[in-house]
Amino acid sequence: MIEDQASSLRKMNQSRLIKVIAVTGGKGGVGKTNITLNTAISMARQGKRVMVLDADLGLANVDVMLGLRVEKNLAHVLSGECTLDEVLVTGPHGIKIAPATSGTQSMAELSPTEHAGLIRAFSELRTPIDVLLVDTAAGISDMVLSFSKASQDIMVVVCDEPTSLTDAYALIKILNREHGVFRFKIVANMVRDAREGQELFSKLSKVTGRFLDVALELVATIPFDENIRRAVRKQTAIVDAYPGSPASVAITRLAKNAASWPIPNQPGGHLEFFIEQLISQKATGTQR
Ligand SMILES: Nc1ncnc2c1ncn2[C@@H]1O[C@H](COP(=O)(O)OP(=O)(O)OP(=O)(O)O)[C@@H](O)[C@H]1O
Ligand SMILES: [Mg+2]
Repeated sequence: MIEDQASSLRKMNQSRLIKVIAVTGGKGGVGKTNITLNTAISMARQGKRVMVLDADLGLANVDVMLGLRVEKNLAHVLSGECTLDEVLVTGPHGIKIAPATSGTQSMAELSPTEHAGLIRAFSELRTPIDVLLVDTAAGISDMVLSFSKASQDIMVVVCDEPTSLTDAYALIKILNREHGVFRFKIVANMVRDAREGQELFSKLSKVTGRFLDVALELVATIPFDENIRRAVRKQTAIVDAYPGSPASVAITRLAKNAASWPIPNQPGGHLEFFIEQLISQKATGTQR
């Protein structure tokens, strides 16, 4: 009976369309983790079943930010020690967090056993989810590229600093030229107002328009809001701690919009497809 239920749940996840969004940016400290987490929580508040895949090995990990205890991580899943369901940690509003692997191994460098383990882990996931948000690390490592490329939507977070724009441009360029990605969703973070967000977006699209064949869309303008730091200090998320504050309002709107972004038709909308894309990096290689 229990086995029956488990297998039907598995089938559900396999046949369900799942939205996969990577949150990236090139530069460190632009707000990727805060945006991922708060978007996840907002989506959960809006009734979606959300999982956050922490693909960042930095210090401000998703679990640390929420003060959650993590015992196992993706490395244990890769080595076959436990299932993906077993490493998931439950956060606010029931969001599920898959903690990062410790180490610097890129997804393109997994051993065949680990590849198989990862596919199995995702195809056997029992926890039903509607949305998977992937928080990536700073920089343009293979890991960041693989996660971004495998996702249906890529949110590129930028803020008003020259290095943020140049790093975002570099990331977009590599994903476009070497991995054939051409749609990018831009989030302007830590801006004074909507106009500044629009200006930031214009600066970025001016350069991409001149040198690349890409389609950029400004999907959110998130104001600089001291309450983000306040919430982090309290190990809570701003959308819970200060729901009426400007950044919360902007992120809640982003979450609502993101929930309606279309999921590509099969096979791209399935969880397995995400994983297959993730690990097929090695096979396709980098075309320069
Ligand atoms: N809209 C905002 N207003 C004010 N502070 C913000 C805002 N967004 C992020 N911050 C602050 O910026 C810092 C970096 O945020 P966060 O850790 O989310 O960035 P990140 O891009 O994930 O960094 P990393 O590249 O190190 O993973 C944090 O101190 C956070 O509180
Ligand atoms: Mg981060």
